[in-house]
Amino acid sequence: MAERVPVLVTRALPSSVMLRLEAACDVDRIDGPGALAHDELVARIPGKQALLSMVTDAVDRSVIEAGTSLRIIANVAVGYNNVDVVAASERGIVVTNTPDVLTDATADFTLALILAVTRRLGEGERLVRRAGWQGWAFDQLLGMQLRGRQIGIVGFGRIGKAVATRASAFGMTVAHVSRSGDGMPLDRLLATSDVVSLHVSLTSDTHHLIGHTELARMKRSAYLVNTTRGPVVDEAALAWALRSRLIAGAALDVYESEPDVHPELLTLENVVLAPHLGSATTDTRTAMADLAASNVIGVLGGEPPLTPIL
Ligand code: DGY
Repeated sequence: MAERVPVLVTRALPSSVMLRLEAACDVDRIDGPGALAHDELVARIPGKQALLSMVTDAVDRSVIEAGTSLRIIANVAVGYNNVDVVAASERGIVVTNTPDVLTDATADFTLALILAVTRRLGEGERLVRRAGWQGWAFDQLLGMQLRGRQIGIVGFGRIGKAVATRASAFGMTVAHVSRSGDGMPLDRLLATSDVVSLHVSLTSDTHHLIGHTELARMKRSAYLVNTTRGPVVDEAALAWALRSRLIAGAALDVYESEPDVHPELLTLENVVLAPHLGSATTDTRTAMADLAASNVIGVLGGEPPLTPIL
């Protein structure tokens, strides 16, 4: 690093990462738990050469146009649907994400959701907490065993494959749909799987990939799990399918309009709702922030980005 250049970091990051960044750059940092409001992001970006953004920041054309000095946007996430990549590439701005370092955490959490929904953990926990549990009963809250069941993985990238490995260890057979066209056609995967787990990136092609038609194709005994991005599922259609018992249940970590959740989902017993925790381990979040910081320090120092998305 030849010079200390101005950098904007939109959330409080682990102190080890902040120390690295502050040793190399002049950091405009946000302390405290909240997100930076969009107008604040637009107001603070002029003059900054790097932006470390989070999945919750809309790094849209207005931010990119205000950031006339920007050289790199380092998104602290593997997904980058929150960044207007077209606007960034028009301006020659490097965009990076944080692949690999969150694969295990996200795949682990997907299995946690699969187990939670198929074993009715949320229902059981609510029963105990409201003092409604009358004691052990032979047929209480019976769920679905995973061994011998088929998991259908939609999107067979790093995380999809890591989920497949874990599901195999639970005795599940694995079917998948992938972008390259190998695997099963989506219709057949939906019609034959006992658990359908979504791992595609959010693009205009995958927006509402799962809606009324797709949910109606699933088995009545099947479960849908979404740990990728909320808008891949039409939430209103999902509420309809769950209410009508067209599918047995769902587990969601992501929502169409976070932090809002479709109000009907909040009233249904057969859905597990998590607050976007897929990569939320201390190790993983630190590794994500560290990788984003390495991208920033490297690019500002004239090196190629470690994990460019283009
Ligand atoms: C990602 O990396 O895309 C996650 O959703 C952020 O936690």
